Parts: sequence; C-alpha cells; structure tokens
Amino acid sequence: MSGNVTFSMIKPDAVKDGHAGAILKMIEDAGFRIVALKKTLMTRELAAKFYEVHADKGFFGDLLRVMSAGPIYAFILEKENAVADYRKLIGSTNPANADAGTIRKLFAKSLESNAVHGSDSDENAALESAFFFAGTERF
Ligand code: CMP
Repeated sequence: MSGNVTFSMIKPDAVKDGHAGAILKMIEDAGFRIVALKKTLMTRELAAKFYEVHADKGFFGDLLRVMSAGPIYAFILEKENAVADYRKLIGSTNPANADAGTIRKLFAKSLESNAVHGSDSDENAALESAFFFAGTERF
C-alpha cells in the first residue's frame, strides 16, 4: 500500500528567481497539504549527506554546488498516494523531458537546477522528512 507523505525541496535557483510562491500554490491547488515547512540553507556538507546515494555519480560535485548556492524551501506534504502523485505534478527529473504544465516544465532551468526535489519512494519520504524535520510537529 502506498503512503500519504512525501518530502520536497524548492531548489536555490527557483527560490532566487522568485518562484517559490507560485510553486507552493500549484502544490496546494493539486490537493497536497503542507504539514511542515522551512526556508533554510543547505551547506555543502548537508547536501553531501542528503544526496549521499549519488556520491559516486559524475554529477555529484555540480549537485552540491547548485544545492548549496542559496536558500531552499524544505517541506513535507500529505495526500493520498503522495509520492507518485507528487512526482506526476513535478514532471521528469530532466526538464527537457517534463510534460507540459508540470512544475519542472514551468520553472526548471536544467537537469541540476530542476526547480524541485521530490522523494522517489515511501521509505525515502520518511528518511528525507526526518533529515529536515526530526522532532518537529506536523499540522
Ligand atoms: P533530484 O530529484 O533532486 O535528485 C538528484 C538530483 O541530481 C536530480 O534531482 C538532479 O537535479 C541532479 N542530477 C544531475 N544530473 C543528473 C543525472 N544525470 N541523472 C539524475 N539526476 C541528475
């Protein structure tokens, strides 16, 4: 059975370009409830920990640079079938392949600066939520 929680970040480029409000509105309009939210800065070290599964990939250095370049929004979302429905709303990882009307099609600049992150499984949704919000109440 699929869970009702997913984790997301609005990435530094999208925040810097002033798209956070529009992205959060699309998310709420699609029926997700924001149950925890913060604007924060990912240091290189934190980004390396968060993305450690990609440590051996060629793009890891670029990923760390992009993700620590400025503030992000980190948030937890609730909705039935949250992980799959959210990945549909954000579109393909590479914005060149993202469907029209998806968040990445509208706001992503490149594969690295692809506007948002979304958990890829219920297990990772729980781990990633705890990474930023362990001990925080959800409403
Ligand atoms: P995200 O969903 O945050 O998860 C890992 C990120 O690595 C991904 O979005 C992309 O921004 C970035 N990335 C850069 N190059 C690649 C690649 N070749 N394949 C997958 N992800 C990549």
